[in-house]
Amino acid sequence: MSDPFSTNNPYLQGNFAPWLEEEDHPDLPVKGELPETLRGSYYRNGSNPPYAPGANYHWFFGDGMIQAFHFDEGRCSHLNRWVRTERYEAQRKYEAGIFGGIGPEASPDPRAEGHSPNASNTHVLWHAGRLLSLWEAGPPYEVDPITLETRGIHDYGGAFYRERFGGRNPDIMTAHPKIDPDTGEWIGFGYSPLEPWLVYHAVGRDGALTRSFELEAPFPSMMHDFIVSADYAVFPIFPAVFDFGVMADTGLPLSWEPERGTHVGVLPRDGTAEDMVWFDHEACYCFHTVNAHVEGSKLIAELFTTPGAPLYQGPGAQPPRLKRWTLDLEKGGLKQEDLDDAPAEFGVIDPRHAGKAYRHIFTMGSVDYPNMKGQPEGFDSIFHYDLKTGRREAHRLPNGDCAGEPCFVPRSRDAEEGDGHVLSIVYRRDENRSDLIVVDTQDFTGEPAAIVQMPHRIPFGFHGSWRPAGGAGR
Ligand SMILES: [Fe+2]
Repeated sequence: MSDPFSTNNPYLQGNFAPWLEEEDHPDLPVKGELPETLRGSYYRNGSNPPYAPGANYHWFFGDGMIQAFHFDEGRCSHLNRWVRTERYEAQRKYEAGIFGGIGPEASPDPRAEGHSPNASNTHVLWHAGRLLSLWEAGPPYEVDPITLETRGIHDYGGAFYRERFGGRNPDIMTAHPKIDPDTGEWIGFGYSPLEPWLVYHAVGRDGALTRSFELEAPFPSMMHDFIVSADYAVFPIFPAVFDFGVMADTGLPLSWEPERGTHVGVLPRDGTAEDMVWFDHEACYCFHTVNAHVEGSKLIAELFTTPGAPLYQGPGAQPPRLKRWTLDLEKGGLKQEDLDDAPAEFGVIDPRHAGKAYRHIFTMGSVDYPNMKGQPEGFDSIFHYDLKTGRREAHRLPNGDCAGEPCFVPRSRDAEEGDGHVLSIVYRRDENRSDLIVVDTQDFTGEPAAIVQMPHRIPFGFHGSWRPAGGAGR
């Protein structure tokens, strides 16, 4: 018998609690009509511990479970599978959650020693003919795009290794690479509390690792996401500083040091580490950026920031809100504008406009909870920001239901930017159940065009993406 799950950890309660079955639903009921243009698969990753995790479990540290919705000819099927990581298999062997959480009491189980902590739980992306399950600090796992069977660690043909910790080890990469819609390149980065603190990666359209080098940073920072335009990769270093000296007090090797400010490194994508140029900004934190483009000598980026520390802790904590950064590449200087007062996070765009001038953002947002701290329960809407008109419209969910990260699917290959459908896994609070909603962007505030009904809930998750039928391109 495995241990029972804790009943007082908020990340194991309600719709954070894991779903412990792997299932196949070959033909889910649909309210309304699925658009004929919606042909392909929607994937979403998230934390789903298979066994009771150690003390102080946090949502960020559960084992990755991928949800897949396959759409074809007006039908939708669903399946969910854990990613068979090394740590998942170790836990199956011991029938125990041997990996702990964060905090002073999160002492690791000795059986975890020697196993990679890669939980592969954060994102899932299609690139170069492969479906890749991503994590914060390690290589991707490749997963079958139809069956979700894990094919193993994807090490880019043996190229994804680096001298770290005194030996040759798997390299680091976060779960937020950007895919250039024109070149098909995958632009990624890794960060670490131990040197090297920052690493840049580029993968070609054919899936080969083309560039991978270390970058200087003013201090080791917890970064999570970065910014990519057609010509630049931008690395925001926030004052969430890795410091093992504070571990004994806080249980986290992380120190919020606002006096250090934010430092933003701009690297030409075809440059070398020596070409990085730095911009200074006030202390803030950002989990998720949205997009960036260059106009003349200005690099313009939209992102969600909070004025305080990550994880929304501490007095005066604020929810994330949409901001715009304008970096003057000629004269220097970074200017920030507030684009909205309402809390919002997990924003996506029409992927055909990644790194380029663009108009539309779709994001989780909150109309009714202006002071919410960024937790999924408070996101009562999906927002559409039109950057051209400056307007925001909300697709309000009924009954305080909770939105998941939206995913935008163009109506056709040559449809106008933002013309298509927005998918989101929503949690029906009163029914303790989930649906996948399909919202037509031409009737964004109206009823969803289709609601794919799940027979049970899908736990709150992180990031997902769309693979067009046949898997060609993006
Ligand atoms: Fe993320």
